[in-house]
Amino acid sequence: MQNMNGKVALVTGGGRGIGRAASLSLAKQGAKVIVNYSSSSQAAEAVVQEIKSMGGDAIAWCCNVADENDCQKMIEEIIAEYGRLDILVNNAGITKDNLILRMSEEAFDEVIAVNLKGTYHTIRYAAKYMLKQRGGRIINISSISGVMGNAGQANYSASKAGVIGLTKSVARELAGKGITVNAIAPGFVETAMTDKLAEEMKKQLVTQIPMKRMGRPEEIAAAICFLASDDASYVTGQVLCVDGGMAM
Ligand SMILES: NC(=O)c1ccc[n+]([C@@H]2O[C@H](COP(=O)([O-])OP(=O)(O)OC[C@H]3O[C@@H](n4cnc5c(N)ncnc54)[C@H](OP(=O)(O)O)[C@@H]3O)[C@@H](O)[C@H]2O)c1
Repeated sequence: MQNMNGKVALVTGGGRGIGRAASLSLAKQGAKVIVNYSSSSQAAEAVVQEIKSMGGDAIAWCCNVADENDCQKMIEEIIAEYGRLDILVNNAGITKDNLILRMSEEAFDEVIAVNLKGTYHTIRYAAKYMLKQRGGRIINISSISGVMGNAGQANYSASKAGVIGLTKSVARELAGKGITVNAIAPGFVETAMTDKLAEEMKKQLVTQIPMKRMGRPEEIAAAICFLASDDASYVTGQVLCVDGGMAM
C-alpha cells in the first residue's frame, strides 16, 4: 500500500525510538520524510539510508524544536525545498524525572520547552503553509502520563497534558480548513526513554498494563500512519491511547 505518494512528512526526533519507526512507516507508505534530529545526527542519517535503500525519499534535518527561530527556519527551508508540508509529527520529547520536592525549576522548564513549546513552535509555522494548501495532518505525541499523571513525572505529565489541550484547541481552529490535529498517548514503549528505568520499576509498570507487556515503537507508528492517512479524514481533536489498555 503506497497511499502517501507525493506527500511530504516532517517527523521531529525522527531518528530514534518512536520517531524512527514513524519515519520508516510513513516512507513505506510513499511519503517523502524529513527526519529531524537535534543531536543524534548519525541515527537520523541511518534512518535516511534505510529509507533510501527501500527506494524511498528522505533527508535528515537538524533543528532544536525548543528554539522558535530554529523551527521557523526548518519549516521555511522545507517549503523552499519541497514546496509543501502535508504531515507534521511532533514526536521530539525528553524526560527529566524527579519527585516534586526535588524537581528543579530548570528541569521543569527544559521538559516544557521541548515537549510542549516545541510542539507549539512547529505547529505555528507549519499551519501557515497547511492553510495555504487547504490541507494537512498534524499528529502530536502526548503520553499516558499526560492523561493519567505519573509519580516522579510532574514536569513531563504537565507537558504532555499541555500537548492534549494544544491539540484540541488547534484542531478546533483548523477543522474547517481541511487540517486535522490529533494526539497519540502511548503507554510504556521499548525505547531509549524507557531503557533508563530500573528493571524493578519496569517489572512493576508491566503489572499495571492489562496486556502485560510494553509496546513496540512500530505499534505507535501504525497509529501515526493511520492518523496521517486519508482514512482518518473525519478524525480530529482526538487523543488515541496506544497503551495496552492502561488508560481504559
Ligand atoms: N517510550 C515511551 O514509553 C513513551 C511513552 C509515551 C510517550 N512517549 C513520547 O514519544 C516520543 C518519542 O519518545 P521515544 O521513547 O522514542 O524517546 P527517545 O528514544 O528518547 O527519542 C527521543 C527523540 O526526541 C528527539 N529530541 C529530543 N529533544 C529534541 C529537541 N530539542 N529537538 C529535536 N529533537 C529532539 C531525539 O533526537 P536527538 O537525540 O537528536 O535529540 C530523539 O529522536 C516523545 O515525545 C515521548 O515523550 C514515549
